[in-house]
Amino acid sequence: MGLIAQRIVRMSPSETLAMSQKSAKLASEGKNVINLSLGEPDFFTPEFIKTYAKKAIDENYTFYPPVPGYMDLREAICKKLKRDNNVDYAPNQIIVSNGAKHAIMNTILAVIDPGDEVIIPAPYWVSYPEMVKIADGVPVEIYSGVENDFKVTAQQIEAAITPKTKLIMLNSPSNPTGAIYSYDELKAIADVVASHPNIVVISDEIYELINFGQKPECFAQFSAIKDRVVLVNGVAKGWAMTGWRIGYIAASVEIASACNKIQGQMTSACSSIAQRATVAAMLQDPTQSDDLKKMVVTFQQRRDLVLSHLAQIPGVKTNKPTGAFYVFADISSYFGTSHAGYTIQSGADMANYLLDTVYVALVGGNAFGNKNCIRFSYATSNEKLTDACNRIKEALSKLQ
Ligand SMILES: Cc1ncc(COP(=O)(O)O)c(C=O)c1O
Repeated sequence: MGLIAQRIVRMSPSETLAMSQKSAKLASEGKNVINLSLGEPDFFTPEFIKTYAKKAIDENYTFYPPVPGYMDLREAICKKLKRDNNVDYAPNQIIVSNGAKHAIMNTILAVIDPGDEVIIPAPYWVSYPEMVKIADGVPVEIYSGVENDFKVTAQQIEAAITPKTKLIMLNSPSNPTGAIYSYDELKAIADVVASHPNIVVISDEIYELINFGQKPECFAQFSAIKDRVVLVNGVAKGWAMTGWRIGYIAASVEIASACNKIQGQMTSACSSIAQRATVAAMLQDPTQSDDLKKMVVTFQQRRDLVLSHLAQIPGVKTNKPTGAFYVFADISSYFGTSHAGYTIQSGADMANYLLDTVYVALVGGNAFGNKNCIRFSYATSNEKLTDACNRIKEALSKLQ
């Protein structure tokens, strides 16, 4: 028997982190590495938010905040949810946490008993299955591929439901695929959920503000199931605030109170200054923000740049992402090919080959539940994206 708990032994280490570490090592050896593995905007937090945070320091917001977050922050979040998503919540239904990640973990701990099944549409964000395992739940993956825009159907979800199903995890816009579910697609899923009264849905809408024309739909809009939807959002992506660590849930009072109980014993409230900064972000109408518009237009141009390069590489298949800042490309036509001692059998093999031979860091799709793919993050400059795509094109042309 080792010292480490089985719960932790069962967890997979983060492949995104492993990739960043490996590329940092190569860079420190003087290699010209282009890192397309990062999950954060390469933009600074808007000035009006920083100003508000500086003011908070001067105003001595330096004491423990209430566990679920400052009341005026929770009120501002309710305003945001009404203004942007047309859903009604009261402050006692909001819990502010240390990033959307923490908000999701709290929720999983709040609803999952050992052995409960959690339906996770693949490709998924790397942390979902591992978080479920921390709670001794059982991840149940359902498949989607590039051929259907990486989206699962309501029928697939229905077919995966068993008497042990307790939770369904949705994420739109999606990391890693950039896909956005339409109103009709979500309505069909909501209808399935409506007929299973013991199932909770986490709707992770963290990429809401980064979309290119197709406005994401909020899953909490379906009133018949609203009490069983845990809406997760935050400021990390849309407001370029990854380091501030603020996310939140909006949920029924029952689930919110359970998350509050966990947070009260485990971490207490999150940083007072970051919470104050988030008040400013929540009160800003995103449709009126030049900072946001600039960022989204830039991401859209980069998406188009990457897609146009990838379209020229034989055997690489992509969807057309309508949100977030990732392209999840299917490279399975290269499986079985080799070059320079590398043989490609999966997206992870391809990511290793590209990092070792042409110094482009991507993440293999294995970590996201689809080994046919590799994930590009295009949160970097046009020059670097073009250089990376050219290197990849050359590396792939050598695979025989
Ligand atoms: C789908 C998804 N959900 C949640 C998060 C975590 O967000 P936060 O930085 O607010 O914890 C991420 C970050 O990469 C993500 O991609």
